[in-house]
Formats: sequence, C-alpha cells, structure tokens
Amino acid sequence: METSVLITGASSGLGADFARRYAMEGKNLILTARRLDRLEELKTEIEAKYGVNVEVISADLSSAAGRNFVIDRCLGRVGILVNNAGFGIGSTFESTPYPRVQELIDVNITAVSSFCHAFIPEMKARGEGSILNIASMAGFTAGPYMAAYYASKAFVLSLSEALHEELLPFNVHVVAVCPGPTLTEFFDHTGPKRALGQNLFLMGSDEVVRQAILDAKRNQAIAISGFRNKFLHFLTIVLGRRVARKSVAKIQGSRQ
Ligand SMILES: NC(=O)c1ccc[n+]([C@@H]2O[C@H](COP(=O)([O-])OP(=O)(O)OC[C@H]3O[C@@H](n4cnc5c(N)ncnc54)[C@H](OP(=O)(O)O)[C@@H]3O)[C@@H](O)[C@H]2O)c1
Repeated sequence: METSVLITGASSGLGADFARRYAMEGKNLILTARRLDRLEELKTEIEAKYGVNVEVISADLSSAAGRNFVIDRCLGRVGILVNNAGFGIGSTFESTPYPRVQELIDVNITAVSSFCHAFIPEMKARGEGSILNIASMAGFTAGPYMAAYYASKAFVLSLSEALHEELLPFNVHVVAVCPGPTLTEFFDHTGPKRALGQNLFLMGSDEVVRQAILDAKRNQAIAISGFRNKFLHFLTIVLGRRVARKSVAKIQGSRQ
C-alpha cells in the first residue's frame, strides 16, 4: 500500500512549506490543522503544481477527540510523520490563564508523543519510516517569560533523541528539528512586542524545511537550522545553562 506524509500544523508557516517540499518529491500528503479553508487552499495549489494526492483533515490537536480523529483516519497509511503543529505563549507563567498553558502542553507535547506512539508500529512493521518532530532552539535552554513553550520543546527534543536510538535498528529515522526564529505566523500568536524584523538569527521558512528534510534523510538525531543557530548552540554548551537562561531572561524580560 502506498503511504503518505502526514503533516500537522500544515495551514501556515513551516507545515505548509513541508507540504510543498514533500509534494515536490512526488509524495502524497495528509495535511491537518484547525483552519480548513487554509488547508483547502494549499491542497488546490499543491495538486495543481505537483500532481500528488492531498487529503486534508480539520482537527484541534489540543483535544483528545481531535488527536484520535486524525490518528483513526491515518492509521496504516503514514510513511513519514511531521509533528509540526505548535504555538508559544510570551508572558510570565503565572499571568497566563492555566487553560492556555494546558492547551500548549496538549498541542506541543501530547499531540507529538501520541502521534509518535500511534504511527511507530506501522513504520517498524514496514521496516522503514521517518519522523520529523519540530522542536526548537528553545529546547536547549530554559526560557523565562516563555517558560512553558521552552519546556515543551525540551520535551520534544529529549523524546526525539531517545526514539532516534530506539528505532535505529528498525530503519525508522527520528529527528528533532531545531529552528531558531523563522519568518512564519508564529510570532503573530505568541504575544505582543515580538516583531522579528531585526532579528539576526531570522531564517526563511522554506530554507528551514529544505535543510530539515535533508538532515532527516542523513538520519541525524538533531537538526539545527542554519549556521548561526549552530554557533549559538555551541555557545550555549560552552557558556552553560546558567548564562543561557539569564540571557533569555534579559532579552525576553525586556519585551514584557
Ligand atoms: N517560527 C519560529 O520562529 C519557530 C522557531 C522554532 C520552532 N518553531 C516551531 O515550528 C512549528 C511550526 O510553527 P510555525 O513557525 O510554522 O508557526 P505558524 O505559522 O503559527 O504555524 C503553526 C501551525 O500549528 C497549527 N496549530 C496551532 N494550534 C493548533 C491546534 N490546537 N490544533 C491543530 N493545529 C494547531 C496551526 O494551524 P491552525 O491555527 O489552522 O490550527 C498552524 O498550522 C511549531 O511547533 C513551532 O513551535 C517555530
């Protein structure tokens, strides 16, 4: 049976560019997000341009019902899984209403882990498969003023690294994709004062996606996007977690 690439959060940003890139390779797609109109638009664009089949599923991954709906529709058909849906909250932890924190945990953590758990068995049975979990540079440090977001990405990074090792013998490749600031709609939803225009580390979404797919094919465990982010990661290791978190506190605290 022909498999597809399942991409979560495909209605904008990185997810939409993953869809375009995999379609370019001739792969059929299953795209999911809440905004059905955006998914339908992308389906029309991609089918016309690349002649692949695109199926769209509208679902809210913050609810168990939404996650299970997608899993039930896709079981047995997923050759590549891109766990991309996610969002950030840019404010102090205690000032964020707890239901919003829970929503972040449900989308950024529970959806990622439940989709891995659901689709790994079929990939193992086929003797091949790839999982690209979109973590972040935020996964390498604590993130004052975006605490839950940074913590969620640390989870994704750690889970992905562990699964990478567990699944190596089965020819199933798991990679934690770690972009830095990327030009998408992400910062529109994260909170005020997060304009990205002057950011030295800013990358285009397509460039991040192109590299991530290449790194997944090379079976890397961790794919840090771009030279500048790789250098920043190196600095974080050299300077240590204390300096890193204090720097984040300074930068993000000034935006409050
Ligand atoms: N942009 C950056 O600077 C950056 C840096 C590092 C990592 N990342 C990560 O990259 C991933 C993609 O983000 P992006 O930058 O492309 O931002 P984006 O343009 O805002 O895209 C986020 C996607 O997630 C989906 N999503 C959000 N909440 C959802 C929910 N409850 N249920 C289902 N889908 C949901 C959105 O779709 P709907 O709203 O239609 O549901 C959208 O398609 C995220 O995991 C983010 O943490 C981004």
